[in-house]
Amino acid sequence: MIDRKSHWERVYGSKAPQAVSWYQQEPALSLRLIANARLSLDAPLVDIGGGASVLVDRLCEQGYGSVAVLDVSERALEVAQERLADRAAAVDWYAEDVTGFRPPHRFSLWHDRAVFHFLTEPGDREKYINVLKQALELGGQLIIITFAIDGPAKCSGLDIVQYDADKLTAELGTGFELLENGHEIHLTPAGGQQKFAYFRLRAKSGVC
Ligand SMILES: C[S@@+](CC[C@H](N)C(=O)[O-])C[C@H]1O[C@@H](n2cnc3c(N)ncnc32)[C@H](O)[C@@H]1O
Repeated sequence: MIDRKSHWERVYGSKAPQAVSWYQQEPALSLRLIANARLSLDAPLVDIGGGASVLVDRLCEQGYGSVAVLDVSERALEVAQERLADRAAAVDWYAEDVTGFRPPHRFSLWHDRAVFHFLTEPGDREKYINVLKQALELGGQLIIITFAIDGPAKCSGLDIVQYDADKLTAELGTGFELLENGHEIHLTPAGGQQKFAYFRLRAKSGVC
């Protein structure tokens, strides 16, 4: 089994943030899905495995006042913090593996682009889903973006699990209602194409 932290510290320590295959100049799909969640600007949001993504910048610019970013790589978070400069102080940062995260409070929205799909062991997925249930408030929303069934089989050199709506909802269990889903082709900085699947769900009462 790989040491996740070492892997991701090595990635962010050796590549420019704009050179990684998952880089997006603008996280347009995530912003659209978050807008569709119709949250108030004081709703607490967390970007799981946010890495060096500019999603946090855009959320702050849109006026969201309670934004958190979690990532197993401290270096990835430092890249985002350095970019945000003074604005970084307004964000909560968690340098942790999501499967061991102990949420300090509940969130209205949990966003995960290309993190859950790295959990190839059933036990790790179970831990992730337990953390998710502890973290989401009643009626809270979940956005998960993974590689699609006919998308790539690896990401950052690691095996991943591909998802469609049936597979993802079966994995999450009965506590979540699927609100929207679809596909997006991501263009990598190297000029490749990757097929992602996206899902927005709501936690049903009783699950969290
Ligand atoms: C493919 S990158 C996606 C980054 C970001 N979400 C984006 O869309 O640009 C995966 C990110 O998840 C982080 N990561 C991987 N496994 C993790 C875990 N178990 N817990 C927390 N972060 C993790 C990595 O450090 C990396 O930043």
